[in-house]
Amino acid sequence: MQTSSEPERAPEGQSVAQPEPSPERSTHGVGPWPGGPDEWPDDPRFDPELLAAGDTRNVIDRYRYWRMDAIVADLDERRHPFHVAIENWQHDMNIGSIVRSANAFAADTVHIIGRRRWNKRGAMVTDRYQHVDHHDDIASFVDWAREAGVPIIAVDNVPGAVPIETFAWPETCVLLFGQEGPGLSPEATAAADAVVEIAQFGSTRSINASAAAAIAMHSWVLAHADLPG
Ligand SMILES: C[S@@+](CC[C@H](N)C(=O)[O-])C[C@H]1O[C@@H](n2cnc3c(N)ncnc32)[C@H](O)[C@@H]1O
Repeated sequence: MQTSSEPERAPEGQSVAQPEPSPERSTHGVGPWPGGPDEWPDDPRFDPELLAAGDTRNVIDRYRYWRMDAIVADLDERRHPFHVAIENWQHDMNIGSIVRSANAFAADTVHIIGRRRWNKRGAMVTDRYQHVDHHDDIASFVDWAREAGVPIIAVDNVPGAVPIETFAWPETCVLLFGQEGPGLSPEATAAADAVVEIAQFGSTRSINASAAAAIAMHSWVLAHADLPG
């Protein structure tokens, strides 16, 4: 009997097409560049220290051995035109994982509104590759959005919100999230050009803010990103 852990066997004399490995999704580190310094690539994006010691950073394989500034410059060439914003009045613990998702979906910039300090642990170092700006209050955030011509799409399950599942996302926009507990402030909701909510089907009032942020970013991705394949 063949179990799921056994590789599929081809009938005698035939070969089975194997799926191509997906190196871009590998999270395994790599050792020193094979062959030593004589074989190092002649490309300024590569970091001699990483070539010598190996690269165990949590980066896609395209960026193995690259300098951090080279990675940021490359990302800057292809960031999406959506931004992410979150209110931070009580040191919201979700901000780190929101920054991580923003990096994964190539958001333009993450805007922190309120307290400047935030817990970086959940970001898993992705904040080094992601532009993160700060605004003291909703008024200064709104000033930035209006001046930059970026519509504010508030994401919260509040009365009057429209379903995110059928929402026509503007290509350029900022997705604005509230905090655990209070959710979006009334000032934030009032400043929004649209308010969208994620359909829920269980007993809890809401989902975790970073989970909501990942869902909302992916909803934008489905509408506007160049998808693989
Ligand atoms: C834990 S919720 C708290 C507020 C929520 N409005 C309530 O009634 O309890 C924190 C944040 O997560 C996001 N969020 C949680 N559930 C959501 C949903 N179903 N739709 C849209 N956003 C949601 C919103 O940005 C919200 O401000």
